[in-house]
Amino acid sequence: MNTAMTDTGTFSTLTSVAVMQPARADVVIRAADVNYAYGNGETRTQVLFDNDLEISRGEVVIMTGPSGSGKSTLLTLIGALRRMQEGSLEVLGQDLARASERHQVELRKNIGFIFQQHNLFSSLTAIENVRMATALRGGSVQEMNNRCIEILGELGLGERLNYLPAELSGGQKQRVAIARALVNHPALVLADEPTASLDAESSRTVLEVLRNMADGPARTTVLLVTHDQRVIDHADRIVNMVGGRIVTNSLTRIAVRICRALAQLEALKGLSESTLSRIASYMTVETRQPHETIVREGEEGDRVYVVGSGVADAYVGGEFDEELCFGEGFGMISAYFKRPNRRTVIARTSMELYVLSKDDFLKALAADRSFENRIRTALMANAPQPGTVAAGA
Ligand SMILES: Nc1ncnc2c1ncn2[C@@H]1O[C@H](COP(=O)(O)OP(=O)(O)O)[C@@H](O)[C@H]1O
Ligand SMILES: [Mg+2]
Repeated sequence: MNTAMTDTGTFSTLTSVAVMQPARADVVIRAADVNYAYGNGETRTQVLFDNDLEISRGEVVIMTGPSGSGKSTLLTLIGALRRMQEGSLEVLGQDLARASERHQVELRKNIGFIFQQHNLFSSLTAIENVRMATALRGGSVQEMNNRCIEILGELGLGERLNYLPAELSGGQKQRVAIARALVNHPALVLADEPTASLDAESSRTVLEVLRNMADGPARTTVLLVTHDQRVIDHADRIVNMVGGRIVTNSLTRIAVRICRALAQLEALKGLSESTLSRIASYMTVETRQPHETIVREGEEGDRVYVVGSGVADAYVGGEFDEELCFGEGFGMISAYFKRPNRRTVIARTSMELYVLSKDDFLKALAADRSFENRIRTALMANAPQPGTVAAGA
C-alpha cells in the first residue's frame, strides 16, 4: 500500500495489484513440477508438464484454458482421485506423492467435489440425495436435516426439497449436486465446470455461496474450472492452462476488474488478454469522491486513468463535453505524448479509477511488445502533432 496526493490535495489509497505470496502456513494446495502421462509404452502421452501452483486458505481460484489442456487431470490429482506420478503435491497437509490409500480416502472426505456429471440417485428426493453426504460426517438427524435444508435454501431450492431428480430441471439437479458437495462444509472445494448447465442467475447464486464460504469463518478454499465469464468477478485469481502447462498464474481479483475495464478501451481493442493483464499489473487503484477534480485542462499530466466504477464529467473550455463511465480513459502523460491534458475531468459520483503513472507506463511499454507497438502507431498516426493518448484524452 502507498498513498498519493490527488488533484484536490486529499490523500487516497492505492492498492497495488502485485500478486501477493500467501503465507506458507496457510497454503492448502502446493504443487511443484507436477507431470502426468496417460497410457504406457507406445501409447504413453504426457498431458501435464512442470506445473507449479500454490493456493492458500480462503482463496477462490478459477482455472481456465482450452479443452484438452489438462485442467481436469490436474484437478483430479489434487483431489486424490488419481495417483501422482512425478513431482510433488501437498493438499490440506497431505503429501500426495507418498500418502497411503487410507490417507487419501481420509483426505477426500475433506474435499467437496462438484462435477458436471451430477450422478444423483434417481429414487431419492433432493434432500435425501444431500442427506447421503451428511452420513459421512455423522451428527443428530435433526442437525443433519437442518444443514441440508439450509444449503439447499441458499442454492435457491428451498421449494424443491422433496422433488425427485426426474422432476427437476438440469440446472436444479446440478444445484442439488452442489448442495451435496458443500453440506459438510469441506475445507476445499474442487469444481469442474460446475456452472456449465446453469442459467446466469443460478451460476451467480452458486458463486456467491462459494464466495461466502471462502470469506466466512471456515475460510473454505475453492478451485474452480470454468469458462464462465460471468463468475470471474467472484474470483481472487485466475490460472490459465494451455497444453498441459499453467501459462499465466495469478491475476488478482482487482487485476481481473482492471482487465475488463481495459478491454473496453478503443485504443487497446484487439490486444490479447495477456497483454491487457500485463498492463493491468502495472496499474493501481484509486478512489475519488463526488465533485473532486481529477485532471485539469491545459495542465501537464503524468498519469492516465481508466474508469472502473462511477461516473465523471469531462469539460473542454468550461463547456460540458461528455460523461465518462466504466472502461473509458482520460488523462495524459505529457512527458511522453508532448501535450497537456485536453480536458478537465470531475467526478460526478464516488469513483474507482485504475491509474497508470508515467513510470509504470514506461515500464509497461518496455515489458510488452504489442502494447508498445500500439502506442507507437497511435503516436505516428497523430504526427506531426504527436499524441492522442492511449487512454483517450
Ligand atoms: N483417461 C484418459 N486416457 C487417456 N487420455 C486422456 C484421459 N483423460 C484425458 N486424456 C487426455 O489428456 C489431455 C488432457 O485432458 P483433460 O485433463 O480432460 O483436459 P481439460 O479438462 O482441460 O479439457 C487431453 O488430451 C485428453 O484427451
Ligand atoms: Mg475437463
